[in-house]
Amino acid sequence: MNMQNLLEDIAGAVQSQLGQGQVADYIPQLATVDPYCFGISVATRDGEVYSAGDARTAFSIQSISKVFALALVLALDGEDIWKRVFREPSGNPFNSLIQLESEGGIPRNPFINAGAIVVTDRLLSMTGDAAGAVRGLMREETGNAGIDVDPRVAGSELGNSHRNASLAHFLASCGNLENPVEDVLDSYVKQCALAMSCEDLALATRFLASNGLRTDGTRLLSPAQTKRINAVMLTCGTYDAAGEFAYRVGLPGKSGVGGGIVAVVPDKCAISVWSPGLGRSGNSVAGVAALDEFTTRTGWSVF
Ligand code: DON
Repeated sequence: MNMQNLLEDIAGAVQSQLGQGQVADYIPQLATVDPYCFGISVATRDGEVYSAGDARTAFSIQSISKVFALALVLALDGEDIWKRVFREPSGNPFNSLIQLESEGGIPRNPFINAGAIVVTDRLLSMTGDAAGAVRGLMREETGNAGIDVDPRVAGSELGNSHRNASLAHFLASCGNLENPVEDVLDSYVKQCALAMSCEDLALATRFLASNGLRTDGTRLLSPAQTKRINAVMLTCGTYDAAGEFAYRVGLPGKSGVGGGIVAVVPDKCAISVWSPGLGRSGNSVAGVAALDEFTTRTGWSVF
C-alpha cells in the first residue's frame, strides 16, 4: 500500500462532504474558521509521517486535549483517578449536566466535560500548571516548540463558559474538586485552546500506537495503561456517537469541537483528521467519513 497516494485519494473522496454540518459557534472564536478546510496525517510507529490537504494548518484541538491530560494523570498518579471518574459511555452530549447530579458528582467518563474537568483538576494539583503540562507533552512528542495556547480561543471560551462553570461548581459541591473552580476552569479552557496541526496531532498521539513509548524511546505509560486509554477512547471518545464511530471507523478515537479527530491503530500508527463542520454530537462530518474510508480501504481497524 502506498500511504501517500491513499491519503490523497481520501482527501479527494471527502470533498463532497466539506461544508456539511455546523461549525461550532458556542465558543465564538471557533466560528471564524473556514468550513471547507480538510487535512489528514498518519504518523507510523517507526516515525514516518504522511499527510494530505491542510495538514499543516493549526486548529483548536479542544476536547482532543482530554486524552493527553488523562495520559499525564495516569503516568504521574497511577489509577487513583478512577475513584473520581467512571469509565462508561454516557449516551449523553459532551456538556450534559443531567447525569452528574443523579450519579452523585462522579462523571461517567474522563472525556465528557465533567470528567475532563476532574482530570484537569488532578493534573493541576500534581503540576501547578495543567495546561502547561499538556503543552509540554505536545511540544516534546512533536519536536514543535511553537505549539501554544491560542489566547483568542481561550478568552472566547472563558467568556462563555456557563455550562462548564455549572459542572465545576456541582463537582465542587460534591467534594470532587481539589482546586478552586476558577483555577480549574482556567486550566481546562487553556488546554482545550491549544492550536495544533494534523501533523502535530498525529505525532503527539503516536505513544498510544506504541504501547506507551514516547518519541525519545522513554516510557510514558505501561502497555496495560495504553490499552485502557485506547479502550476508553473507543467507548467514550466520540460521546453519544461512540457506537456510530465504532461501527463506521472501528478504532479508538477522540474528537474535538474544533473539527479535529485523532484515532489509533494499535501497534501501527496514529491518524489525525480535521474539518470544521460538525455533526449533531460534535464530531467532524468529513473527519469521520475520512477515517471510515481509511479503515475500510486498509482493513486497519481493531475489528
Ligand atoms: O468544554 C468545551 O465545551 C470545549 N472546550 C470542548 C468540547 C469539545 O471539544 C467536545 N468535542 N467534541
